Amino acid sequence: MPRFPDHLLGDGPTNPFPGIRVLERRLGREIPHRLGSNEGLDMPHDALRRHFGDAMVEHVYCYGDAEALGIRQRLADQQGLPLEAMLVDAGADSLIALALRTVATAGCSVVGTSGTYPTFGYFARGQGCRLVEVAYDEGPGRLAPDLEALLGAARRHDARLVYLANPDNPSGHLHDDDAIRQLRAELPDDCWLLLDEAYHDFREDADGPFSREVLPGVIRLRTLSKAHGLAGLRVGYAIAEPETLAMMMKVRIHYAVSTLSQAAAEVVLDHPRESRAHVAAVLERRQRLADHLRGLGAEVLPSATNFIAIRLPDADLAERINRELLEAGRLIARPANPGLGHVLRITAVEDALVPGRLAILEEALASR
Ligand SMILES: Cc1ncc(COP(=O)(O)O)c(C=O)c1O
Repeated sequence: MPRFPDHLLGDGPTNPFPGIRVLERRLGREIPHRLGSNEGLDMPHDALRRHFGDAMVEHVYCYGDAEALGIRQRLADQQGLPLEAMLVDAGADSLIALALRTVATAGCSVVGTSGTYPTFGYFARGQGCRLVEVAYDEGPGRLAPDLEALLGAARRHDARLVYLANPDNPSGHLHDDDAIRQLRAELPDDCWLLLDEAYHDFREDADGPFSREVLPGVIRLRTLSKAHGLAGLRVGYAIAEPETLAMMMKVRIHYAVSTLSQAAAEVVLDHPRESRAHVAAVLERRQRLADHLRGLGAEVLPSATNFIAIRLPDADLAERINRELLEAGRLIARPANPGLGHVLRITAVEDALVPGRLAILEEALASR
């Protein structure tokens, strides 16, 4: 079993505000009169009502359910995930911070891939961790987090945690389930695997048995920002063993997911056909975008996400295309990490397929 910091063991911190929803569940009955939690319950909210309507205002008065039971129940029913193995927080980003706060201490080593989703390194540094980064495994047709290198670094540096985005951002690469199992099995017992599955819903096997597995020593992260279109409302969830989640609950910002966000997530989860249709449309657009750019000679890397990554021959060309597109009001993504300066990432939205939208890129490809 991987380590938790000493200060969380034993009595550790105890969350002072589990909230009224949790109390109601403990008592087994509703508490109709809320006279004690200092919320602004008497606010008429005329302006909000005029702007958003009465239904929205119902959700703004009270602190949210710190256990987000409604969301977890829906995920459990729909995906077969165990209710007690899920923790909801304000997006996968918040969960990265929470996972680090739960398992890492200042000065400990954590390992990631140089150029991958940068929030992990940002939070790790902010917490005083020693960030060890390994290079991508790069070859013809391949740009992938290097599992062997991550493993080697974890062993050499006595790492507390290894971060892996799978599918990866920005490469789009997906390591298969066996590779993930093997990585976990070969990591030192006391090292956590933080498996960021923000793009999980775009996997063709998103509903497969592996998607429901609660893996010892692994904290899996998912989000409603992508396939469910709720990025602005900040809802994500972790899948881990209940003892791990209990530790995370000790250091969690209890009302981080607002009542409104929870209510909206429940509505969206109650209409899974809409999200499934959205995912299907994204995959179809991704294919069209990739075919179009391949047809112009671009190296489009395989992607299991809602974006494509293009590898250009050099970073200067990528920088120029990115800059000129931005000057023309078209924001694509170029990783800030110099190791991936030759990569451009484009999200498979309809706007990217509008004829002429990416003309600057198309012309640059044609003139090579
Ligand atoms: C790999 C990865 N993890 C996490 C996130 C953040 O997700 P959320 O909106 O749930 O915080 C993103 C968003 O781009 C991402 O690419």
